[in-house]
Amino acid sequence: SSSNFSVQELVKQPIKTIPQHYIRQPVPSAPCGGHHPSQMLPTIDMNRLVSGKDFDVELEKLHSTCKDWGFFQLVNHGVSIPVLEKVKQEVEGFYRLSLEEKMKYKIREGDAEGYGTIERDDGKFDWADRFFMTINPIYKRKLHLFPELPSSLRNTLESYILEMQNLGKKLLCSMAKALKMEEKEMMEYFDDGMQSLRMTYYPPCPQPELVMGITPHSDSSLITILHQLNGVDGLHIHKDDVWFPVGFLPNAFVVNVGDNLEIFSNGVYRSIEHKVVPNEEKERMSVAFFINPKFEACVGPSPSLINPQNPPLFKRVSLDQYVKGFFSQKLNGKSYLHNMRIVDD
Ligand code: SIN
Ligand code: FE2
Repeated sequence: SSSNFSVQELVKQPIKTIPQHYIRQPVPSAPCGGHHPSQMLPTIDMNRLVSGKDFDVELEKLHSTCKDWGFFQLVNHGVSIPVLEKVKQEVEGFYRLSLEEKMKYKIREGDAEGYGTIERDDGKFDWADRFFMTINPIYKRKLHLFPELPSSLRNTLESYILEMQNLGKKLLCSMAKALKMEEKEMMEYFDDGMQSLRMTYYPPCPQPELVMGITPHSDSSLITILHQLNGVDGLHIHKDDVWFPVGFLPNAFVVNVGDNLEIFSNGVYRSIEHKVVPNEEKERMSVAFFINPKFEACVGPSPSLINPQNPPLFKRVSLDQYVKGFFSQKLNGKSYLHNMRIVDD
């Protein structure tokens, strides 16, 4: 039935009970912490990072935040507000299309890209519909996805992608500086990198505690830039054995360190597990932009950070090997990152 492809379709009629295949086993539920979520997650000011005044103070804050939290709110990011408004309109518009129209982009057998829902190892489904696609390098774009999108959505995403690449580059340059790494080394990693984008729709759920909007995982990326489109929160991060709600801050992006940056920084920066809990009444929409190294790159600690006092903590593998290994884990916690660790024996 259509609800195998779309939770959005499932909730079009009010449902009394949640179908079994969305109900998760009692997750060993970590306590929920914090009463003022947006105050707890540190805020980084992009303006200060790139302009002279207070530059070093902000850089130090970025550094300690990436070490301690792996997540931050980014303000004064410089991304065009009209572009952000268009992204909101167009993504909302996409999810308002009929199921039939959206199914043109459905996830194909053996592929991770396209439109649909996600089945986990245990046969359970996340409470979300998503559209995931590779957008860079351009020759990696699937012909039946990006080029076939409605033109207004496609044009809007093109502008957004340019903004994200520009912002991502600035962030990674700042991080390289903060890590005392050769900026060139970081840029070689970033240029022509593999980038992807995911638009996610989390329908309201009458019993949010029984389901997962997205199963706990860490991202494989260098960094991820998240745009919480419509002001509905739900993202939680796993810190010090507690699930912290991230909250929604107007005009801010949520940026996080991914596994690749934890590895590249030789464990200095942390890629933190996170999950989404759907809202009881409101739909949540988000766009996540994933910045990865280029396909030809090796995944491993940055050579400029390695010396006899700082031996490599992670193995070196090709990105191709790494991506295959990562996706074979079906987004279960941080298990693949642990496979990359060099263990003393
Ligand atoms: C994620 O990408 O893991 C979460 C996305 C979201 O907050 O919607
Ligand atoms: Fe994620």
